[in-house]
Amino acid sequence: MKVRKAVIPAAGFGTRFLPATKSQPKEMLPIVDTPVIQYVIKECVDSGISDILMVIGKSKRAIEEHFDRNFELESELAEKNKTDLLDQIRSISSMANIHFIWQKELNGLGDAVMYGRTFCGNEPFALLLGDTLLGTNDELGRPITRQLIEICERFESSVVALESVPMDKVERYGIGGGEEIEPGILRLDQLVEKPKRDEAPSNLAIAGRYVFTPEIFDYLAETKPGKNNEIQLTDAMARMLAERGMHGLRFDGKRYDIGNKLDFLKTNIEFALKRDDVGPGLAKFIKEIAKELGP
Ligand code: G1P
Repeated sequence: MKVRKAVIPAAGFGTRFLPATKSQPKEMLPIVDTPVIQYVIKECVDSGISDILMVIGKSKRAIEEHFDRNFELESELAEKNKTDLLDQIRSISSMANIHFIWQKELNGLGDAVMYGRTFCGNEPFALLLGDTLLGTNDELGRPITRQLIEICERFESSVVALESVPMDKVERYGIGGGEEIEPGILRLDQLVEKPKRDEAPSNLAIAGRYVFTPEIFDYLAETKPGKNNEIQLTDAMARMLAERGMHGLRFDGKRYDIGNKLDFLKTNIEFALKRDDVGPGLAKFIKEIAKELGP
């Protein structure tokens, strides 16, 4: 059971980032100098995935163009002998085979995933939410998606990445509960989308990375609108879990939620501080500005 395909839903309006997202998708917002979506595609590629379907909405053309060749730009960079930049720009279009499909109405995450049915056929696939980045502390440097793929192949079951969140935040997430069968790996027995604090089976939140066996599409096809009157992926997963079992990975790493402004800014600062080109200058600036404007 080899996982070669991934689905990335990226059809939302990005209302939290207006006006920046009026004509460009939120997935194109940069973390330092690289669009969020390029990090997500890199996670797929580094996990051994070669074919990616992006489920997109209106004004997502910028994503297509980003992953296509731009011959005018390339010849400009070649003329100016900017070879490093030229190589970098060229390599983006050969990262993976990227396919696009338009979600006709925004009917929830479950509906978006359903658009992957024909693309995935009878194969297992990874699902990566386009507004989340996950950093890993893995000794071997395996991305979280790679780790999920290995668990899926080993147990022949679907698997989801889980992150501990404070109990007062469980209402924002899908929450999973189950028994830890080896360090970090759970056999799930419950999944609930955005439960009330006193109804949550744990504080382990679904963290935007999943690997599914193809049967998920059968469950999705039968799923009625749930929370917020949307087709909830978690509802289909809960039914699949009851009939076929499912695993969870309490991953060792960090989640960067770029779907809200504050975390987006924090992610930019953290990523920039880790870089040799802008890190030292930014660190100096932060100290100075904190002294000037801080409490
Ligand atoms: C979605 C999923 C939820 C998950 C979350 C992670 O919710 O439905 O289960 O925990 O992503 O970011 P959304 O953030 O789209 O409301």
